[in-house]
Amino acid sequence: MLGALLFILLLLHGRGFCSSDWTGEFVGSYDGGLCAQAVRPFGYPCFEHTVETKDGYLLAVQHIPNSREDIQIGAGPPVFLQHGLFQGGDAWFANSKEESLGFILADKGFDVWIGNVRGTRWSHGHTSLSQREKAFWDWSWEDLAQYDLADMIYYVYSKTNSKVFLVGHSQGTIMALAALTQPEVVNMIEVAALLCPISYLGHISSPFVLRAVTLHLDQMLLAMGFHQLNFRSNMGVQILDSLCDGHMDCSDLLASITGKNCCFNNSRVDYYLQYEPHPSSLKNLVHLFQMIRKGTFAKYDYGLLGNLKQYGHFQPPAFDLSKIPKWLPLWMAYGGNDALADITDVEQTLKELQSEPQLLYLEEYGHIDFILSLLCKVSNIYGAHKTGPLE
Ligand SMILES: *[C@@H]1O[C@H](CO)[C@@H](O)[C@H](O)[C@H]1NC(C)=O
Repeated sequence: MLGALLFILLLLHGRGFCSSDWTGEFVGSYDGGLCAQAVRPFGYPCFEHTVETKDGYLLAVQHIPNSREDIQIGAGPPVFLQHGLFQGGDAWFANSKEESLGFILADKGFDVWIGNVRGTRWSHGHTSLSQREKAFWDWSWEDLAQYDLADMIYYVYSKTNSKVFLVGHSQGTIMALAALTQPEVVNMIEVAALLCPISYLGHISSPFVLRAVTLHLDQMLLAMGFHQLNFRSNMGVQILDSLCDGHMDCSDLLASITGKNCCFNNSRVDYYLQYEPHPSSLKNLVHLFQMIRKGTFAKYDYGLLGNLKQYGHFQPPAFDLSKIPKWLPLWMAYGGNDALADITDVEQTLKELQSEPQLLYLEEYGHIDFILSLLCKVSNIYGAHKTGPLE
């Protein structure tokens, strides 16, 4: 979750971005969307769709109906890829064709669909709100699960008339696990594959994130009146500076956030930075920090009275992982060096599930490796579906 996004911070660090508030600008242009910028240039057909959520957000969903023209494969089942925090659908196409899951699945004949959550570069629209309004940013990952993921899956399910293979990374897995506790969502899913599965965050070991939690960075930003979280801004860069200043070794910022990545391509950082990090909401960060502090997998905590008003209880309701039905095949991959999806937390998730997911444990992997690792290692994960439910 915080992972891939933050590695970008590392990049922004010291680059002298010139906007004075949280409204950072993307380096590239918005023209043409993700398909035109990151997929079609590599020879793949790609079509832009717009999904309107029940609460009015306009989300971009990309469809790569089959692989390159030089590879003749019939249309396979629909697979929906859900990115993590501070990332967008571009994350699935960030490396070469042989190394990026979006391209790999297209080449294997899957009918590929790409999700982009509200607030990201590709999904910045709303039927009545503008990004400048506070209300536009009034959501956390539970809304991304309840609305964005559920509504995008429903869209793909209706378009293809078929159950959907769901793949998530990081925050995409929090969204998936929360959404899969809902019968109306899980009934549209054939199988779910979770990379760096997260539901509990109580054992997170990332020094950078723990320091931000200890410093109450979330409350500080709330008090300052922010609602958007955009690290492409002077403010974002300053926060990084202050977190690192003399208190922690930030010379390898990426590792201090995500854990030591075995297979990250440092030479490719400029390319990643064209798209990442994508904005998110401050409320989302607050929610994640609540989970880290309290060790719960529950809805947003509004405080005793706020909860009473919102939920009718003093405590926010927990998500019940045992509601994910046993019949749903689950596949999970997690890493020994992942400082965000800690093994203890993954084990807690496994304990609460009714089913026994197929597991792939990669000792040397950090959080980023699961989405951006290099070819030699990619085969470890993306090839592993041959023995898993994605077969
Ligand atoms: C790493 O990134 C550079 C720059 O994009 C690229 O030329 C190179 O092929 C990448 N290395 C691997 C092993 O993919």
